[in-house]
Amino acid sequence: MLTLSIIKADTGGFVGHSAVHPDMMAEARREIDRASASGLIIDGHVASCGDDISLIMTHTYGVDAGLIHSFAWDTFRNTTRIAKELGLYGAGQDLLSDAFSGNLRGMGPGYAELEFEERPSEPVICFLADKTEPGAWNLPLYKIFADPFNTAGLVIDQKMHAGFGFEVYDLYEEKRIVFDCPADLYDMLMYIGAPARYVVHGVRSKTLGETAAATSTQRLSLIAGKYVGKDDPVMIVRCQSGLPAVGEVLEPFAFPYAVAGCMRGSHHAPFLPVPVEQAHPSRFDGPPRVVALGFQIHDGKLIGPRDMFADPAFDRAREQANEIMDYFRRHGPFEPHRLPLSELEYTTMSTLTKQLANRWTPMTTVIATPVG
Ligand code: F6R
Ligand code: MG
Ligand code: MG
Repeated sequence: MLTLSIIKADTGGFVGHSAVHPDMMAEARREIDRASASGLIIDGHVASCGDDISLIMTHTYGVDAGLIHSFAWDTFRNTTRIAKELGLYGAGQDLLSDAFSGNLRGMGPGYAELEFEERPSEPVICFLADKTEPGAWNLPLYKIFADPFNTAGLVIDQKMHAGFGFEVYDLYEEKRIVFDCPADLYDMLMYIGAPARYVVHGVRSKTLGETAAATSTQRLSLIAGKYVGKDDPVMIVRCQSGLPAVGEVLEPFAFPYAVAGCMRGSHHAPFLPVPVEQAHPSRFDGPPRVVALGFQIHDGKLIGPRDMFADPAFDRAREQANEIMDYFRRHGPFEPHRLPLSELEYTTMSTLTKQLANRWTPMTTVIATPVG
């Protein structure tokens, strides 16, 4: 069995929270080369989206493997060291713990991992996002694996017609459920339509019995108990031969739907599909970005990547996203641009509640008009 892991962390931004410094990327590449040479991993690729570094690796240790996670942790500590040397912003931001213990669960870095038997031809797409949260994958996963208006194969491919199982996490109560689609579609949408709390963790083909997709599923703020940056999630989707075709997997991103994140992790903004060279959110710390790296995996080797959103067919989504961004920005501090109070990652509300406690009076009280 082969495992494909994407492990990612923000270990410092250049400039502000907009990108990763080239020296940090070079360090991560040196580590990945060393890990390949030593035989720890079969192959690896270092990528970035915004201020997050992703280590994309193939190996045989399975998911949640201590050896692989500790390698990623050490790599992120090294990139943090460089970020500190250069005085980069938020150095070591996602490393929430001082010491590594077992695996990365709850330690800050995010990860999506899939274990599978390599097929004769194994096309996969690795999606990397910046300035948004894990629930951002709910809408495209629904469309890819459950919406026949997106995915023709659900109707006309014999191997897809039975549908897919969706594993959904409740991040608030740390529970999970599997929805059997299409039978459970309406039930599932009630939950995953609320992506701040309910997040699709994985998708499985009912006909092939194969796991088709995996996402990084965490909320840093729920782990740390305070705002420590948006999670900036990643996702792996296997494609073709009874799984959605590459074009069906990319299709949902032709619609720049609104996600939570952007400035101070506290605003709705359009999700902008971009080529790798444009994955540097600057305007209002956004709009949130997504890149798609396509690989063919062969004997465990990562053949690629191909930059899947470097396609003029996504230009219209980009134009539309810019218009939507203008529209949202004109709301300034008002919802629905600003997130509802319960979802704000930054807030002055608790301080204000104390400061203004005496000035709030029952609505029946007559207040003298202030004289200017
Ligand atoms: C978004 C993000 C940024 C920061 C913002 C303020 O995920 O990380 O938008 O929240 O740049 O950062 P500080 O508070 O560090 O000045
Ligand atoms: Mg950052
Ligand atoms: Mg980030």
